[in-house]
Amino acid sequence: MSMRIAVTGGAGTLGKHISAKLADRGHEVRVLSRRSPDFPVDLATGAGLAAALEGCAVVVDASNASPRHAAKVLVAGSRRLLAAERAAGVGHHVCISIVGCDRVPMGYYRVKAEQEAVVERGPVPWTIVRATQFHELAAAVLDAAGRWRVLPIPRLRLQTVAAAEVATVVADLAADLPRGSRVQIAGPEVVSARDLAVAWKSVTGRPALLLPLPVPGKLGRALRAGWLTADHADVRGSASFADWLSAQMLKPGL
Ligand SMILES: NC(=O)c1ccc[n+]([C@@H]2O[C@H](COP(=O)([O-])OP(=O)(O)OC[C@H]3O[C@@H](n4cnc5c(N)ncnc54)[C@H](OP(=O)(O)O)[C@@H]3O)[C@@H](O)[C@H]2O)c1
Repeated sequence: MSMRIAVTGGAGTLGKHISAKLADRGHEVRVLSRRSPDFPVDLATGAGLAAALEGCAVVVDASNASPRHAAKVLVAGSRRLLAAERAAGVGHHVCISIVGCDRVPMGYYRVKAEQEAVVERGPVPWTIVRATQFHELAAAVLDAAGRWRVLPIPRLRLQTVAAAEVATVVADLAADLPRGSRVQIAGPEVVSARDLAVAWKSVTGRPALLLPLPVPGKLGRALRAGWLTADHADVRGSASFADWLSAQMLKPGL
């Protein structure tokens, strides 16, 4: 059954894949963001939400913000979004979150855990999709640091996944009934930051020195313990970081 589905952050790294997959399946997709030409909304103020959500059956929230603005956009923004959804009669809110956000003691992750709590206690039936870090994020961090030919390598375990594979799961869930629970998706393999850096060097052919970066305290312990990974995820992506990166390198214009 075709539905009208709004995707906040629908032009972002994950949101663009979700929007495309939902449209491919015949849904009417509304891409909401501050720069959206058709449905400009600002979650930090609530501007534009009422008009953008008119007639929508489902909202997928794939918005994001820098750690500095995260509470305003993701927590207070979720409250505003959910109130507008209720007023518009939206029947399903899908929140994108992060594996381990309730365990890793870092400001941005605390905000994500708070966002989940707002959704759980909110007025609209919900599904929360927790994903591990995207391959896209790992590549962006390595590309940026690689410009200096030095890659700072913290000791941590990750299970990165392609945003496109997360989007397939989100699109399936969005078109289904609200779960009222969390679904976890993780990448195919648990690796160290060093493994990712070695793969990046090998695939891109760019030279860089790997420099160990100590992460002290509780945060360091949480990262080393692998709290950002999910051994028993509900869904596992199939593309490893190296395979995904190799495929990106073959794309025209790169
Ligand atoms: N990146 C990862 O590795 C990762 C891993 C697991 C889970 N997640 C979660 O996945 C979600 C999406 O992350 P992402 O990396 O795809 O995000 P992203 O690429 O940074 O995109 C964020 C989107 O949010 C929109 N946005 C920002 N501020 C807004 C505001 N005030 N009002 C309305 N829209 C706003 C932006 O569009 P405009 O600038 O046009 O407003 C943009 O389209 C987040 O919930 C994140 O926590 C991310």
